[in-house]
Amino acid sequence: MSQVHVVNHPVVAHWLRILRDKDTPPHEFRRALDIVTHLLLYAATQDLETEPVSVETPLETTEGVQLKSRVGFAPILRAGLGMIPAALRLFPQAQVWHLGFYRDETTLQPVEYYDPFRHKACTVDVAYILDPMLATGGSAVAAAHKLKEWGVPRVVFLGLIAAPEGVALLEKYHPDVPVYVAVMDRQLNDRGYILPGLGDAGDRQFGT
Ligand code: PRP
Ligand code: URA
Repeated sequence: MSQVHVVNHPVVAHWLRILRDKDTPPHEFRRALDIVTHLLLYAATQDLETEPVSVETPLETTEGVQLKSRVGFAPILRAGLGMIPAALRLFPQAQVWHLGFYRDETTLQPVEYYDPFRHKACTVDVAYILDPMLATGGSAVAAAHKLKEWGVPRVVFLGLIAAPEGVALLEKYHPDVPVYVAVMDRQLNDRGYILPGLGDAGDRQFGT
């Protein structure tokens, strides 16, 4: 069974309302997405491995820790791009592997248009798929498949809003992939949009 973690926090809920608001302009939307991503990542990375390392304070030597895992972020283009600034602020050394999928508007199936992994050996211990919306789940399932095929030992999905349909599909194909989101919404409409949702996360960020 995959684990679904809904990060219930008043600050997350406050910024989520701003993200949902149809009158929030793109620059405010990007700022809200950045803040919520930062908070979701705090929750999603609490089990990262560390190793002991000594540190010299101005007064004496003491024990500290450093992160051990090689962290990779896998934003799904385009909407996942807005989650990268927060991710790199928290993990400046992380790798970013862009995944090019768009959702066909008629079939709602993901279509791959950019593959970053061709002929490259896996170089991360844990990969966080970044995408604000988990709607039908098709894009997230394809992204998790791609990362596992590349050889990533641990894959985590991080998003803003999930629909029950998307969580169920991800659970069916990747029960080992934990899901971290700010909220679980009610359902999809007949065009595959999340209700109540926030509309098209890519268009909302980039003003298209
Ligand atoms: C959106 C969103 C996800 C996908 C979710 O991307 O950012 O990638 O749809 O839908 P699914 O769970 O049904 O697969 P979209 O295809 O609109 O591309 P964009 O980010 O370039 O706007
Ligand atoms: N993609 C989006 O950007 N929004 C939705 O509601 C569903 C898919």
